[in-house]
Amino acid sequence: MSDTIKYLLSEDQMPKDWYNLAADLPVPAPAVLHPGTMQPVGPDDLSPLFPMSLIMQEVSTERRIEIPEPVRQVFRQWRPSPLFRARALEKALGTPAKIYYKYEGVSPAGSHKPNTAIPQAFYNVEAGIRKLTTETGAGQWGSSLAFAGSLFGIEVQVFQVRVSYDQKPYRRALMETYGATCVPSPSPLTQAGRAILAQRPDHPGSLGIAISEAVELAAQRDDTKYALGSVLNHVLLHQTIIGEEAILQMAMAGDDPDVVIGCTGGGSNFAGIAFPFIGMQLRGGPNAKKRRIVAVEPAACPSLTRGQYAYDFGDTAHLTPLTKMHTLGSTFTPPGFHAGGLRYHGMAPMVSHVKELGLIEAVAYHQIGCFEAGVTFARAEGIVPAPESNHAVKGAIEEALRCKREGKAETILFNLSGHGHFDMMAYTDYFAGKLQDLTYDEGELAQALSGLPAVPA
Ligand SMILES: Cc1ncc(COP(=O)(O)O)c(C=O)c1O
Repeated sequence: MSDTIKYLLSEDQMPKDWYNLAADLPVPAPAVLHPGTMQPVGPDDLSPLFPMSLIMQEVSTERRIEIPEPVRQVFRQWRPSPLFRARALEKALGTPAKIYYKYEGVSPAGSHKPNTAIPQAFYNVEAGIRKLTTETGAGQWGSSLAFAGSLFGIEVQVFQVRVSYDQKPYRRALMETYGATCVPSPSPLTQAGRAILAQRPDHPGSLGIAISEAVELAAQRDDTKYALGSVLNHVLLHQTIIGEEAILQMAMAGDDPDVVIGCTGGGSNFAGIAFPFIGMQLRGGPNAKKRRIVAVEPAACPSLTRGQYAYDFGDTAHLTPLTKMHTLGSTFTPPGFHAGGLRYHGMAPMVSHVKELGLIEAVAYHQIGCFEAGVTFARAEGIVPAPESNHAVKGAIEEALRCKREGKAETILFNLSGHGHFDMMAYTDYFAGKLQDLTYDEGELAQALSGLPAVPA
């Protein structure tokens, strides 16, 4: 019997194109609406913020979209990323299940985020853009775009959610090392930030607010565009390289997952691992095995499990178009738990859509249980996961323990979206017993949901 641990692809085996789930959906996702007219937005509505090549990817229904050669050239530095069989974790759990994880923490920034930062910087430079603005929750996306900016010679301005800026000073140092500028959000640099600071000077920030600030700045200048680290179709598309590689690697292992798991903030790493598998199922044929696909989100910000499926703004100041998604309301401020990258009020419209179609499941866990899972994982496999990724680890461990109870040898695949080397303060707090299972304020949630925009049916 083989006892292989790592399944590695050569650089030549790296996928040459991204997979677009829109091509295989039985029902297309609802249109994106202009908040003024309530009509579907056209490419021109989005062009102040994004280059046309990315807007075309946003609305594309082509099944395969080629990854440009200069982007693939950069990817070679760490891709294809490894697929591991978690044999030590299986043993520690005493489970008959087979656990595999795709590890995205091997990228220079430490997560899956460069998979979209690199192409976004590439397409913007190609369109003659000189500066990108963006938000960051965990600091992972900000560092990834800063890294991409340094490679392609494009200036990057990052608005880092205040609570994460304070929790993780070394993420800011990393962004600055790559040559980007990083300020805490809400900031006095924008109207959106000033309005929030006037109401509450110690506001902890949120991804919705940081997005408003970045969008506001980008909309003011022709040479500046905005880059989003998750949620949008083109971002999810770029992340599908994860699942495309994983399919090849699972075949190398002679295995096929029964359960595919990812953590969900805005939905991009989950979509990255899951959409290629969902596509195989939707297309039918020999690979159309029905697999359970599970999204794991934080119980303190549970958009998929507790949010409404409704049209909403992507940001707090209402500068973005309206998308139909699972949302907690655009003014909802999640409590300051440690997985900053999962503190977003909404979910990617495409992930929300497949949830509505019954193609995926969703579960929510509190942070202490997720850290416990992360520590169990680290002590068996050696890798210290990012607090966001701990949600996927928790999901995988729960499935493996279910298999143990039921005596089933199922195959579990999860995406380990990043390492937690910049998050050790969170682990220190966990060991000191300082972490709490924060819950959101039901009254604030009700208020945020009551402010959902009225969209004619
Ligand atoms: C390591 C890591 N995993 C997951 C996420 C969540 O984002 P998404 O749902 O877009 O993958 C983040 C966001 O910052 C992250 O840094």
